[in-house]
Amino acid sequence: MEFLLRGGRLIDARVDSPEEQSCDVLIADGIIKATGKGLTTNGRVIDCQDQVVAPGFIDLHVHFREPGFEYKEDISTGARAAVDGGFTTVCCMPNTNPINDCRAVSDLIVTQAKKAGLARVLPIGAITKGSNGKLLAEYGEMKEAGIVALSDDGKPVMHAGLMRRALEYAKTFSLPMVQHAEDLDLAEGGVMHEGDVSSQLGLKGQPRETESIMVARDIELVGLTGAQYHVAHISAARSVEMVRDAKRRGLPVTSEVTPHHFTLTDVACCGYDTSAKVMPPLRTQEDIDALLVGLADGTIDCIATDHAPHASVDKDLDFSCAAPGMLGLGTALPLANALVGQGVISLSRMVQLFTKGAADVFHLKGLGQIAEGGIADVCVFDPKAKWTFDAGASASRSDNSPFHGREVVGRVNYTFCGGRLVMEKQR
Ligand code: DOR
Repeated sequence: MEFLLRGGRLIDARVDSPEEQSCDVLIADGIIKATGKGLTTNGRVIDCQDQVVAPGFIDLHVHFREPGFEYKEDISTGARAAVDGGFTTVCCMPNTNPINDCRAVSDLIVTQAKKAGLARVLPIGAITKGSNGKLLAEYGEMKEAGIVALSDDGKPVMHAGLMRRALEYAKTFSLPMVQHAEDLDLAEGGVMHEGDVSSQLGLKGQPRETESIMVARDIELVGLTGAQYHVAHISAARSVEMVRDAKRRGLPVTSEVTPHHFTLTDVACCGYDTSAKVMPPLRTQEDIDALLVGLADGTIDCIATDHAPHASVDKDLDFSCAAPGMLGLGTALPLANALVGQGVISLSRMVQLFTKGAADVFHLKGLGQIAEGGIADVCVFDPKAKWTFDAGASASRSDNSPFHGREVVGRVNYTFCGGRLVMEKQR
């Protein structure tokens, strides 16, 4: 089927000028056949006036819970939530059951993703067997099965010597190493950010140095090994400074930030609201200010959601016992779009953070761009549309989100993956 996206504002990392504001994009045979003005088709014409036509979004950090925790999410419900939010490529963290530390689990994820047929779901393999921080997993066989990076997400590699070997081993396979940076000894089981709010609530906090100490150690190890290192869900002001400095020194260090970390502070935990419990924890306005500078100046390479579905049996508990994490795919665009509205970043920088910026970190060739002859992964969104986020109505199997009921601006209306229309919103 051929689609002509007529008269939208085409934005990708290379194109965005007022002159481009009205541009047609012709999709056929799974590729971008042509871009320009006055294109024609015998297929379907979609009016994209006042909408942005962008590359399909790429999320380097989601939890789709299959295998093992399908009651929270499976690959097909996760992929549906992805395309609803404009994402055509998502990378799945390995903290499933069993952990994705071998070819068999990676194969299963790839197979289930194909069956769902909605988005590209790319597995991330575990750094250590069972993510228990003791023995390295088999990177070669997982790479053959399709992993795009390594991480023990949720479980930082605490042992510096093991992390050094992991970085060296990953380098031989050109696999980026993604660290959930949290010094568990310093964290001492803290369940939220340590500060005035944790004191008022009487909850055990963990200081922001929990993250920055780990980032500091790892950057030193990158200096030692020359391996590629990516800071997952960066949350603390000092971590941003360290990544900026590492980049200045030419080290292969990158970082991602989540919409919740640049939008909410620890105040969201007041009332013991477990939907705001997340790791790393929501921090302070001072941290947010540093994250925003990092987003604008390129220290932060991309926006990733850390989409972490949990069922009510995991969340309707005492704050200390509740599982950390929140949905992310459905609110990512409007929360980032709010930064455009506030003048923090431009619309084209936002698109870059969701597309090329992410593709470059994991070396995803041919993705994150709209190029004639290239893969037709496309997202069409209205940057001005106002709507109210209803977590219960999201495609995800879970509904844990502190953004439920929030009025937002910016809505994805169409998503194409490999030239197929995989999501169309009722308008
Ligand atoms: O809040 C979080 N939830 N942080 C993590 O690192 C893991 C994730 C999950 O798997 O639920």
